Amino acid sequence: MDVYEAVATRRAVRSFRDTPVPHEVLSRVLRAAARAPSGGNLQPWHVFVVTGEPLADLKKRTLERVAAGDPGDPREYPMYPPDLPSPYRERRSAAAARRYRNIPRDDATARQATVARNWDCFGAPAALFCYLDRIMGAAQWADAGMYLQTVMLLLRTEGLDSCPQMAWSVYRTTVAEVVSPPERLVLFCGLSIGYAAVTPERTERAPLTETVTFLG
Ligand SMILES: Cc1cc2nc3c(=O)[nH]c(=O)nc-3n(C[C@H](O)[C@H](O)[C@H](O)COP(=O)(O)O)c2cc1C
Repeated sequence: MDVYEAVATRRAVRSFRDTPVPHEVLSRVLRAAARAPSGGNLQPWHVFVVTGEPLADLKKRTLERVAAGDPGDPREYPMYPPDLPSPYRERRSAAAARRYRNIPRDDATARQATVARNWDCFGAPAALFCYLDRIMGAAQWADAGMYLQTVMLLLRTEGLDSCPQMAWSVYRTTVAEVVSPPERLVLFCGLSIGYAAVTPERTERAPLTETVTFLG
């Protein structure tokens, strides 16, 4: 698989088979992904890989919080800026409309159940949690994004799928109970990993003219 194909076939997969992901595959991917670039070569990511019993425990504890109506932990970073302006607001609405298109608008319970699938890792048998030192700034968070995209593309070359999930930051203290990160770290996001049970359709992208300007 070349890089174009890996990019084209990567999707945020939200339904996984329970087939285990071999440990050596995860190690190979993460060893290779360490080649991702970072400003000053800081390599600011701290990654915890969770499978098996600890992952089952994490899902159980988190879903218990969800079932109890627990709204989550105090936020350590905003997922989105408040009052998203155009065109971001419309793009976000379009993504939500597509995601919930099979659920009647007034069926809040079904919507919540769909959201809650996040905390079951959408059925995935493996997950990683990417943390950053809390002293790090925007540039290092961008480094973590490049790193995670590198992981996701390498997973494709191994026949694996993934879903990046900021949703895990909502229940970050439960993640911390399981992975025991040093206090100085902030959870950026989780990444569910496994073999897709359902491959979602391609999501839309803005035309190149909206996001790229060629000069010269
Ligand atoms: C940093 C980051 C956080 C995300 N968090 C979530 C999440 O919590 N739950 C979820 O279902 N999808 C999440 N996504 C997936 C996006 O919704 C998805 O990438 C976007 O809609 C484009 O779809 P595609 O990845 O299938 O092309 C996240 C993506 C990124 C990059």
